[in-house]
Amino acid sequence: MRLEKSKLLPLKKIIIAIDGFSSCGKSTLARQLAAKLDYVFIDSGAMYRAVTLYLIQRGIDHRDAAAVEAVLPQIYIHFERQASGNLTFLNGEAVEQQIRQTQVSDLVSPVATLSAVRRMLVQQQQKLGESKGIIMDGRDIGTVVFPRAELKIFLTATTTTRAERRYLELQQKGTPADIDWVRHNLEERDRIDSTRADSPLRQASDAVVIDNTNLKPEEQLAMVMALARMRIGS
Ligand code: CDP
Repeated sequence: MRLEKSKLLPLKKIIIAIDGFSSCGKSTLARQLAAKLDYVFIDSGAMYRAVTLYLIQRGIDHRDAAAVEAVLPQIYIHFERQASGNLTFLNGEAVEQQIRQTQVSDLVSPVATLSAVRRMLVQQQQKLGESKGIIMDGRDIGTVVFPRAELKIFLTATTTTRAERRYLELQQKGTPADIDWVRHNLEERDRIDSTRADSPLRQASDAVVIDNTNLKPEEQLAMVMALARMRIGS
């Protein structure tokens, strides 16, 4: 039987949450899935990085929680979709490169422990997901931001693999960093992210865990696309 076009049901849109440790390829996977499914991709880490950059630019000490909270209403973050990927904007200025610099990477996890910062960003993230058709990566997406996401992935890989991948990525982008700093930075961020009181990084009980240490990007993508198709029902 052939269905007339007008009688075809629109495909169900879902939310895909990708969480995991630092530098385990969450954003790469999310970007690839978004392209395949024609979904919106949001890198929630870029939002925490943008807030951190703002505090650095203004000379605000992140240890002064009241001072940080006072400037939060002045921070406006948005993303623009480009062929090369999403660009992050902070108060109208493109900051995609700046937010990846070592200065920001060193401070972002302490900033992300602040409840006022998390409240503001989680609210924005939930708004972005209101009409579904979204893939968001981060640390608390499946547990706090979208606890009812239809598909939750928890990515992991060995520390050595993650450090090597991030080092190569920084080199390709022309951001100076040395491998020892990269490894130390990701171990330290994992420690802070997993032990903070507010929304610590943890695997949601209904997440699918994928260790991608020995997986090629295309193998990982095929696995997650199969899971996504089951949830979408196509
Ligand atoms: O790319 P990578 O995995 O190294 O980190 P990111 O996604 O850019 O996130 C930077 C930092 O933001 C993390 O280490 C966390 O401290 C914080 N973050 C968070 O607390 N919650 C999220 N949903 C996303 C990021």
